[in-house]
Amino acid sequence: MSAFAFLIAVLLALLSFIYYLLQRRMNYWRYRGIPHDAPHFFAGNLKGLMKTRSFAEILREIYTHHRGSGPFCGYYLFQRPAVLVLDRALIKSILIKDFSNFADRGIFHNEKDDPLTGHLFRLDGKQWRGLRNKLTPTFTSGKMKFMFPTILKVADQLMVAVEKRLASDEHVWDWKEMMACFTTDVIGNCAFGIECNSLQDPNAEFRVMGRKLIGSRRHGPLINAFINSFPNMARRLRMAIMPQEITDFFLRIVRENIEYRERNGVHGNDFMSILMELNKGKHLKSENDQLRALSVSEMTAQAFVFFVAGFETSSTTLAFALYELALQTDLQERLRKEIEETIQRHNDEFTYECMEDMQYMKQVLSETQRKYPIAPNLMRQAAADYVVPGHPKYVIRKGMMVTIPTIGIHYDPEIYPDPEKFDPERFSVEAVKLRDSVDWLPFGDGPRNCIGMRFGQMQMRVGLTYLLRRYKFTPCAQTQIPMEFQKTFPLFPQGGIHLKVEPIETRT
Ligand code: HEM
Repeated sequence: MSAFAFLIAVLLALLSFIYYLLQRRMNYWRYRGIPHDAPHFFAGNLKGLMKTRSFAEILREIYTHHRGSGPFCGYYLFQRPAVLVLDRALIKSILIKDFSNFADRGIFHNEKDDPLTGHLFRLDGKQWRGLRNKLTPTFTSGKMKFMFPTILKVADQLMVAVEKRLASDEHVWDWKEMMACFTTDVIGNCAFGIECNSLQDPNAEFRVMGRKLIGSRRHGPLINAFINSFPNMARRLRMAIMPQEITDFFLRIVRENIEYRERNGVHGNDFMSILMELNKGKHLKSENDQLRALSVSEMTAQAFVFFVAGFETSSTTLAFALYELALQTDLQERLRKEIEETIQRHNDEFTYECMEDMQYMKQVLSETQRKYPIAPNLMRQAAADYVVPGHPKYVIRKGMMVTIPTIGIHYDPEIYPDPEKFDPERFSVEAVKLRDSVDWLPFGDGPRNCIGMRFGQMQMRVGLTYLLRRYKFTPCAQTQIPMEFQKTFPLFPQGGIHLKVEPIETRT
């Protein structure tokens, strides 16, 4: 045999072996007799993602197809066999009861080579626990109250921006974009202590960065699929996902901010001040990892995640709420009435307590988040093999990804009859009592739920209060009915949310 023929034979043997391994991997659930849909060889069960289907659509389809078949079904996240949970008892065990085995998300992070990925959402294990303990006091209701006036200040700027458009006889525009400017300015103020001014100038630096964050990727789909499927290997290969321009921007902003505050003795009531506290004082001297001081790059990563997790989630939810209220103006009127009456009850002052007192407001936002959970799923990773209690055949192997299909649960007609209907009555105090806590998961649940939930709710309630007191929203020719979604992982509307807006005085 010539050397060339030998080489070809070795190559063929190697390729056959890789094919065999992949084939075995892609038959994982079949060999174990667990219900699943046949996967595509490369895309697994995510075929069409980003092109023809959103992640939410895929999850909903799998959940609806397999619901009732057992505690979970199998599916393939690209090449990775994963679990999709179907029953409440198991959801509760994973998120709460047996949390210690499911504390990790198992997604890519590489603090050394990609510093912005070293944040609370991505970190796992001891690193996550230490950070969560340090950051939890940042989000108490006392701290929220401190930040409330800053949000009101930005809401005033929102009113100025709306008035400016109305004055130039503009009555229809994209409310998703306008709400994104509002929450960018709120988070910019609270997380970075910076006046971002995107409401005045939609091309302000922070807003541009926000758009880049959602729209730009460091790699193409193949490399991204590799990093998502093999996050530990990607870290060992020193790979990064964050575009360099974004990393440089946030590192610069935080560094400049710290320098400015230290030079001028500035102490704000914002996240940055709290992060700066964690960067010095008693923390510096501590040997204990739970108390160790945060480095500037760790601080930047946390401010960054507050920005990423905090602006688009809240702004898109706000825009979805305006959309539903525009389609059902009687609900809009009812909420407006509640706003006025509650403010009157609170001596004509819109305070933090007054905001907390608006029950129908809470219902409208909860129903918006049921119908449009921006994060359509929750992710956890098993730390050790886990046999589902009472189901010996159902084993979640160590290292396996576990998906909780929020969107499937929120559209399950047995939990929410007529799920396409927008009905805030589903969240009356009495109705909520009749359901399980894990039937509503827009902020997740258990010790790893959304740390910024209170802040997100606060900025959404302030935004709606200011807007509905002054303006009436109705659909227009550009309003998409029914709503269409982008084909991405988060649940975003396709082509914005265009609505007609009129000052309230013009009502007949
Ligand atoms: C409507 C607004 C928001 C929604 C729908 C939302 C949703 C979520 C969801 C679904 C999770 C995962 C929870 C889980 O796995 O159980 C999460 C985690 C997180 N969110 Fe939010 N979020 C919102 C606002 C915010 C805000 C305003 C901030 C910060 C200022 C924030 C910061 C975070 C962080 C840091 C995590 C990771 C927590 C951890 O892993 O310990 N979120 N969020």
